[in-house]
Amino acid sequence: MVPQRPYAIDEMISAKAIAARVEALAKEITRAFRGTDKLIVVGLLRGSFVFIADLVREIDLPVEVDFLEASSYGNAMESSREVRILKDLRGEIAGRDVLVVEDIVDTGFTLHHVVNLLRSREPKRLEVCALLDKPSRREVPIKATWTGFEIPDEFVVGYGIDFAQRNRNLPYIGKVRFTEDGSVG
Ligand code: IMP
Repeated sequence: MVPQRPYAIDEMISAKAIAARVEALAKEITRAFRGTDKLIVVGLLRGSFVFIADLVREIDLPVEVDFLEASSYGNAMESSREVRILKDLRGEIAGRDVLVVEDIVDTGFTLHHVVNLLRSREPKRLEVCALLDKPSRREVPIKATWTGFEIPDEFVVGYGIDFAQRNRNLPYIGKVRFTEDGSVG
């Protein structure tokens, strides 16, 4: 689906700022999981694919990567509040160290659902790293162990994050601003 209204994208977080923050997060994660025989890094598709790629390359531990896809937004700008698992993990996580990697925590419904599901599989340890957090939007009380940036209540795109499947390939994070003149970007 293509967005019906024309929009522009204003840069909010530069590629350079993201890279610096990813490096710092990876250092903290490496320290926290030091001694693990293998960390299973679980990326929530599709929004986390760029973030997880950068993050794992900065984590100085043996890692395994797996993916899980949960639906919440569909193609709209509002959370459906009903979370469905569209693609489950390939591997077992029982007794393992797990790091869930999420793009944005918004209402919190997605993360809450995913964390509950994964905890029911009895990992040894489960932590969450979210690139972005919009605390003012929270409806379910949940917080990531590590957060890249807290942002205001804006709809953002880029660095893997989409608006109706568009703009995932922007190297920075930008906010969507609807325009009347039809300019995009
Ligand atoms: P939640 O269940 O409301 O916390 O929604 C989390 C998911 O909604 C994120 O993983 C994103 O895929 C999507 N989402 C939330 N805010 C935005 C946004 O500003 N832009 C694009 N997707 C978003």
